[in-house]
Amino acid sequence: MMSHPLIRPRRNRRTPAIRSMVRETSLSPTDFVLPMFFHEEPVDTPIASMPGVTRWSLESLVREAGEAHALGIPAVVLFPKIDESLKTPSAEESSNDDGLVPRAIRALKAAHPSLCVITDVALDPYNSDGHDGIVQRDGAAEIEVLNDETVEVLCRQALSHARAGADVVAPSDMMDGRVAAIREALDDAGFTNVSILSYTAKYASALYGPFRGALDSAPKEGDKKTYQMDPANAREAVRETLLDEAEGADMLMVKPAGLYLDIIARVRESSVLPVAAYQVSGEYLMLKSAAAGGWLDERAIVLESLLAIKRAGADIILTYYAKQVCGWIG
Ligand code: PBG
Repeated sequence: MMSHPLIRPRRNRRTPAIRSMVRETSLSPTDFVLPMFFHEEPVDTPIASMPGVTRWSLESLVREAGEAHALGIPAVVLFPKIDESLKTPSAEESSNDDGLVPRAIRALKAAHPSLCVITDVALDPYNSDGHDGIVQRDGAAEIEVLNDETVEVLCRQALSHARAGADVVAPSDMMDGRVAAIREALDDAGFTNVSILSYTAKYASALYGPFRGALDSAPKEGDKKTYQMDPANAREAVRETLLDEAEGADMLMVKPAGLYLDIIARVRESSVLPVAAYQVSGEYLMLKSAAAGGWLDERAIVLESLLAIKRAGADIILTYYAKQVCGWIG
């Protein structure tokens, strides 16, 4: 006689209706943040290292952000390409109230008051060294990225974003103590309502290459391993989580996302704060090129990649696919 299993998990997978009832995770436009590139020029430029992604003029940035918001996306995060002539070792341009980012924030908030505007706080687009912090040479063979000196500049940068009307500032630099310092600087200036989304566990990943191509922001010398985390480490992400929470972060971020699902889950378990995950430029490029070659079904693989990030514990997902996905799930 054939033996019959008493318990049959397949019953819960039998029809689309049953599957939809037992589904544990779903994607909605409100899960997404759209990262946007822009520059001073009056034209829109396709980004060679990220097919399908554009570096917008200020005018187009406002229009495109409005379209994303109309699809239900609550927030954008801004990445400026700064003119080479404005880059200096101390990154003064990063806190210029009339600089590209403050002007973009004001234009976005004027056109779309309900859009949440998030800014990236780090020095790499402004720094002639291409590092997230201030570089010290000292004649030594190895360059040093200074921590406390950098944090002071980051505070000035965050303040200039707040003065322009940013809702959320997102320090992506990985300097020690920057969340507490930025919180204090914001509060002292009366910006108690401006939130901090901290890049809590940002790894020194090979997946940022296409982004640096988009902004011409690659380090001129050395790498980012003295401040971004070692991809080999997971417990260290918990340490950063506890610190950021104690320092007053409102939301935490893990970056990259797809290769770091275990980190998203660890951070999720270690904190009650909302957790964001950034599907970065290299992840985008891997998905895009596999799809462009006809090797993978773009819609299916992108939705699966995002569902996995959400399932791992992310409440918020930054992805270059945000607008397209809204069309797919809408
Ligand atoms: C800059 C910054 C980077 C990214 C976001 N903010 C690059 C880096 O750290 O070198 C990468 C995003 C992406 O690859 O999509 N601090």
